[in-house]
This record gives sequence, structure tokens and C-alpha cells, in this order.
Amino acid sequence: MSTPKLKCHVFVCTSCTYKEFNGNESNPEIAKNIRSTVKTEAVKKYGRDNVRVSAVNCLGTCEHGISAVMYPQNEWKLNLREHDAPDLLNWIDSKMTPNS
Ligand code: FES
Repeated sequence: MSTPKLKCHVFVCTSCTYKEFNGNESNPEIAKNIRSTVKTEAVKKYGRDNVRVSAVNCLGTCEHGISAVMYPQNEWKLNLREHDAPDLLNWIDSKMTPNS
């Protein structure tokens, strides 16, 4: 069995929440929904041999709200909100060009 040559592997912390304007903690499902949306769309577009979007329980950046990291680029996205799924998809798109 050969191992896939991933162009990027994004890890989204699905435990993260953030403080809303009213001071309440955000719905913990938001991070899970972001990851699910991004995973579905990225794998549909590029295939599992090229991209993975995995859930993790903590990336150690809890004070920055919903967090994601991309390897091998070692690039981070912090303070994500539900509407940021398209930005994460654009982030992945930017790594899928031949010269990225
Ligand atoms: S709980 Fe998400 S980075 Fe720690």
C-alpha cells in the first residue's frame, strides 16, 4: 500500500469555543460544523490523496478561539467563526496550485 502524498493536511480544533458579544460561550458545535463543511468540500474537490481535514481536541491555542493549523506549511488560522469555512477552503485552494 502506498501512502498518499498530501499537499496539505488541515487540523481543526473541534473543542474550541469563543466568547460571543453578549459574554456567553459560543455553541461548541460551530467548530465541528466548520470542520465538517471544509472537509466535505475539500475532499470533494481534491480527493483524499491530496487533502485531509481532521478534527483534533486541542491545538494548544485555546485563548484564540476556534483554531486550525495546516501542515506541512505550518500555517495557522485563529479566531475562526462559522462564516469562515469559505476562507478555509480558499486557504486550501491556495496550496493546490502546482507552484504552492
Ligand atoms: S480547545 Fe481548541 S485549541 Fe485548545
